[in-house]
Amino acid sequence: MNILIIGSGGREHALGWKLRQSPRCDKLYFAPGNAGTAMIGENLDLAIEPVNTKNADAIDYFCRHNGVGLIVIGPEDPLAAGLADRLQHPSRAVFGPSASAARIESDKAWSKQLMRSVAVPTAEARIFRDPGAALAFVTHHETPVVVKAAGLAKGKGAIVTADADEAAAAVRRIMIDREFGDAGDAVVIEERLSGQEVSVLALVDGRSIYVLDTTQDHKQAFEGDQGPNTGGMGAYCPTPLMTDELMQQVESEILVPTVDALHRDGITYRGVLYAGLMLTPGGPKVIEYNCRFGDPEVQALMPRLKGDLLELMLATAEGRLDEVEIDWDPRACCCVVMASEGYPGPYEKGRVIEGLEQAEQEDGVFIFHAGTATHPSGKVVTDGGRVFNVSALGSDLREARDRANAACEKIGYEGAWFRRDIGHRVL
Ligand code: AMP
Ligand code: GLY
Repeated sequence: MNILIIGSGGREHALGWKLRQSPRCDKLYFAPGNAGTAMIGENLDLAIEPVNTKNADAIDYFCRHNGVGLIVIGPEDPLAAGLADRLQHPSRAVFGPSASAARIESDKAWSKQLMRSVAVPTAEARIFRDPGAALAFVTHHETPVVVKAAGLAKGKGAIVTADADEAAAAVRRIMIDREFGDAGDAVVIEERLSGQEVSVLALVDGRSIYVLDTTQDHKQAFEGDQGPNTGGMGAYCPTPLMTDELMQQVESEILVPTVDALHRDGITYRGVLYAGLMLTPGGPKVIEYNCRFGDPEVQALMPRLKGDLLELMLATAEGRLDEVEIDWDPRACCCVVMASEGYPGPYEKGRVIEGLEQAEQEDGVFIFHAGTATHPSGKVVTDGGRVFNVSALGSDLREARDRANAACEKIGYEGAWFRRDIGHRVL
């Protein structure tokens, strides 16, 4: 079977790397891909944004003429814009939810109401479409809140505040200064929760749910979880925080009612449902739902997945998840993100990268490219804020992290940096 993966990050490289191992995987295409995906498949020059009839037709045409039997859509933007809907065809499977199902991520106000309707534990929240009403609410609110742009904002639309002044400033940034554009048409103002955050990813085939091993990521830029939020600076899997009992509770009190509520509303959810949870003293609560694999969480999951990802994805897309059994490598996996100088602020691209081959020779190490490109000279250069996701297996998390860090040391480009403390919260 030929496969097309939409996206260009470390998530898509990791998924492609795992799909490649399937005996049924024939040709592997990426649109647009990066320098790493070009080493395991073919990068295509197909526009994926904006999602419109012309671009979707071009992808569909390519798939029909190249025998593509599975399309995997990695990022949330094309899913929210309906790419999965447009690419549905009897001759192929599409892995990724429809726009109406992706709304669980792309519209936080709607998502909150969905959770409330089935009493899924989540942060208490109020939704506002009027900036004046939102400002009045935060001014008189006594406990700290988190102010969130309701729409998609590249993971940066949640502002955690300490007091009423900060909360009012956050409302202004989102609703008046329009820092996140239309994503700020509405805000969700939530009680600020405390506790450790875990990412629970589940495959959903419309009715059945298959929960994957739990991961944790580090969103803040600097060591000790300091500094601004990023797309994720590292992740590990499994996490010792998630006991079997807690996992049962998350499945029965959170995931199952959510999928039931979607079903009740006539929405067939097919793909990955990602629950971002806070483990509060009062039990696990949802802080967000995402409609796709976590990045970099999946870069820590894939090296531990035994078995055939292609079969899993087909079973998800075709509503056969009840036939599936997944085994995990008992070793721990740690993924360390190497970033560009200046990230998450402005950064330069095009810096030449050295040492990849030496880094790859480290024991148990997998190097997934996130923001790289191939220069016309043939050299691999930096092309994004997050450049590599270096994952390593080890007998425990500490060994896995030591290996990943050692491999990162061998990769060189001007301004390269990474956090050496991934996993510190549980070590
Ligand atoms: P989100 O975009 O909703 O995932 O939020 C981004 C980050 O903001 C989360 O990973 C949390 O660290 C933090 N956050 C979001 N909601 C809350 C909340 N209700 N209480 C505390 N922190 C939160
Ligand atoms: N790692 C966080 C996310 O994928 O949203």
